Amino acid sequence: MTADLTLDQLRELFLFEALDDDQLTFLRKMGSVTQVPAGQTVFREGEPAECFYVLLSGTVAMTRLVRGDEVEVTRTDHVGSYGGAVQAYVQPGEAKHYAATFTAVTDCRFFSLPGEAFAAVVREWFPMAVHLLEGLFLGMRASNEVIGQRERLLALGSLTAGLTHELNNPAAAAVRATSALRERVRAMHHKLAMLADATIEPKVLTALAGLQDDALAHSGTGPKLGALAASDAEDELVDWLEERDVQRAFDVAPPLVAAGIGPDWLDGLADRVPAHLLESALRWIVYSLETEQLMAEIEDATGRVSALVGAAKQYSQMDRSAQQTFDVHDGLDATLVMLGRKLQGLQVVTDFDRTLPPVPGFPGELNQVWTNLIDNAAGAMAGSGTLTLRTALDGDSVLVEVGDTGPGVPEELRRRVFEPFFTTKPIGEGTGLGLDISFRIVVNRHGGDLRLVSEPGDTRFQVRLPVRPAVTAVSPADG
Ligand SMILES: Nc1ncnc2c1ncn2[C@@H]1O[C@H](COP(=O)(O)OP(=O)(O)OP(=O)(O)O)[C@@H](O)[C@H]1O
Ligand SMILES: [Mg+2]
Repeated sequence: MTADLTLDQLRELFLFEALDDDQLTFLRKMGSVTQVPAGQTVFREGEPAECFYVLLSGTVAMTRLVRGDEVEVTRTDHVGSYGGAVQAYVQPGEAKHYAATFTAVTDCRFFSLPGEAFAAVVREWFPMAVHLLEGLFLGMRASNEVIGQRERLLALGSLTAGLTHELNNPAAAAVRATSALRERVRAMHHKLAMLADATIEPKVLTALAGLQDDALAHSGTGPKLGALAASDAEDELVDWLEERDVQRAFDVAPPLVAAGIGPDWLDGLADRVPAHLLESALRWIVYSLETEQLMAEIEDATGRVSALVGAAKQYSQMDRSAQQTFDVHDGLDATLVMLGRKLQGLQVVTDFDRTLPPVPGFPGELNQVWTNLIDNAAGAMAGSGTLTLRTALDGDSVLVEVGDTGPGVPEELRRRVFEPFFTTKPIGEGTGLGLDISFRIVVNRHGGDLRLVSEPGDTRFQVRLPVRPAVTAVSPADG
């Protein structure tokens, strides 16, 4: 602590020039003179804003973190320049943080005031100015929030539409298969009744049941035939069936072939069943094969429904708490499912190293990043091209790369694409927030890195996520 300032010295500082003696006396009592040697930090961006500083002598540099780099915004020796807890009077009580870093370039002297006390007098002395400033400040913040919110809603809306569409196909398939199944089961009952009425010998019925089991066990185990081979096999069965006067042989042959049944098996059946019952026995077996097939279809369709619901759950992170250690592939897989419809017409290549270590962070937020990057890539390719998702280990980081074969980002725009509200899309199609939000999630929330490498036909957005938790604590440099 050095000697106090006189009222006249305070009045020379342009901020205080219009204050009367009482007000200056008050400031003088409240504040103090602080010396900061060359090279030391006065206050650091992101730390709680506690003090308001006015430069008395020396040169100070103001830097801000821009895309992970410290960028010098100004450097000044102008006496009266101020910084620090400058927003303390807006919304008092709300925690504020320093918006920039001040570093003493030469030895500096500051008149410093505790932020809260400073805020209280500013509100008391200049109520109208504070109202106006608050309106401006809060208005801007609110409009940014509304826009961000709207974007998120729009994104959610299009995802919901995509998911609904994806769910609809398997659900409709399951409904169709169920109604076909009901019909087959009814027909089987009918055939069974017919067989029983025909005073069939118990021995034959037992054999038939054995053959049915055998046919079912066959089905699905044989090699899948190509269209041509299947049609040849069907022709062969049709000949066999027609030779034995089986009606509508063309309906009966395909399910038998699909189940891997050939003439040899049918010979075995003919040996065990009297000729006049052959057709009924065959149809009974075909119905059970079809029943089995339909049940497999239902299983498959409902399996797809639950896989989609699982992806939606993983995507939204509905049942998980915020910070955790997780495998990046879970989110990438889920995002691809969620975006399925947007990717129609594109070739999607995944080059995943599934042995990557898990990363610490916020999986739900990273899903937003994958969504934004994939959405941009799909947008850039406008319906045709290749989307490549690649993961790899890169030093102590997990690398996730989203590549596209679109026109690329011209050199002069490469820095600007990360700016909030920068977009080249027509009004109503892009807000220009996708990359800004992604950057903040990757860099600020995960201590990672988001980079762009681009040339026409090969554009890659590269996300690097540290495998170990980011060191977020900023050490108070001056104390
Ligand atoms: N893969 C890409 N290929 C070419 N240009 C891209 C690519 N990704 C982003 N850009 C450019 O960067 C701009 C900003 O992208 P950003 O995601 O931030 O906003 P947006 O896609 O325009 O809108 P929003 O994401 O809010 O819908 C885009 O308008 C586009 O010009
Ligand atoms: Mg975008």
